[in-house]
Amino acid sequence: MYRETWAEINLDAIKYNITQIKEKLPQETGIIAVVKANAYGHGLVPIAKKALESGANALAVAILEEAMILREASITAPILVLGFVPAKYALLAAENNITLTVFQRDWLEELGEYQLVKPVNIHIKLDTGMNRIGVQSKDELLNLIREIANNKNIRITGIFTHFATADAKELDFYYEQTERLEELLYVFKKQSKEEVIVHVGNSAASLRFPESMHNYIRFGISMYGLYPSKDVRQENSVDLKPVFSLHSRLIHVKRITKGESVSYGRTYVAEKDEWIGTIPIGYGDGWSRKLQGMSVLVNGRRMPIVGRVCMDQMMIRLDEAYETGTEVVLIGEQGNTVIEMDEVAEYLDTINYEIPCMINERVPRIYVESGKKQSD
Ligand SMILES: Cc1ncc(COP(=O)(O)O)c(C=O)c1O
Repeated sequence: MYRETWAEINLDAIKYNITQIKEKLPQETGIIAVVKANAYGHGLVPIAKKALESGANALAVAILEEAMILREASITAPILVLGFVPAKYALLAAENNITLTVFQRDWLEELGEYQLVKPVNIHIKLDTGMNRIGVQSKDELLNLIREIANNKNIRITGIFTHFATADAKELDFYYEQTERLEELLYVFKKQSKEEVIVHVGNSAASLRFPESMHNYIRFGISMYGLYPSKDVRQENSVDLKPVFSLHSRLIHVKRITKGESVSYGRTYVAEKDEWIGTIPIGYGDGWSRKLQGMSVLVNGRRMPIVGRVCMDQMMIRLDEAYETGTEVVLIGEQGNTVIEMDEVAEYLDTINYEIPCMINERVPRIYVESGKKQSD
């Protein structure tokens, strides 16, 4: 670490959040920890390891590359790739005991062109209303099952769907999706002899309907201590601790006089003499230029970002002179004040999911466990 900007990842909070949801779930319902997109920006391998150690039974990622990174890190737990993987990579998946998501006959046909040493495990994806990927009709599902039954290269080990509105106030569509799911599951169970696992719920569904989650939940955003929406947060059904915080330090502090401007384009002009601090973080780190005007914490108090956020640096207005080296918190707690991920997301008119994903690899992740800090 050669620069004074870092993210702290509180691994104890991962354990806390998993423990909290486990208390809500029926004993027989397991947890698939969703660690796609570099564990929502928190760090793929350390989060996967901590989740498994904290009681998760399996892992889910979006792409085969992520699954391979986990295997290369000697993680042996079941891994499901939730997204589309071209059939030509089924061999690699089978060799590494990685489960793929399948929903197309074309994919099965293409697979026929390849020789597999051992069968690839797959979960069938049911599209019950998301209209993203998945099998939609009973006929489509029946065809797929028949095709698979004749194919020695494939073993169905699971079946799943994904909800489009489990985090919303209005739940009519959620119930519509569960109805379509039950219809398709009925068809599947009647037709297929395979013993499979069924998983349906993301964080929102698991927090709200823990009793209806079938065999596993797919636990993503709330494992990271964040609520999937304002509505779910207000219901306060499970207590969560945020895992991610973002930190930097003042690297320069100076006095400017009334009428002087700050940064590119002179979008900020001082109305009186004031203290300005410079912080080494910018849009090159994923800290968006749109965050001009947002607050950060210094000495437990809010200070505004003034002038345009540059690629590697930005400026804040200070309420008094501070030493260079003083810590600045951009997301998280300092003293009795907090800037939540949700607040940054709201400022950027997006959802909390996007914020840790957007802070890129230029910002080192420091892992905190039982009070000890360790970099990746
Ligand atoms: C198929 C699938 N399952 C589960 C999840 C986890 O959702 P959440 O982060 O809301 O828990 C996602 C995330 O987008 C997903 O795409």
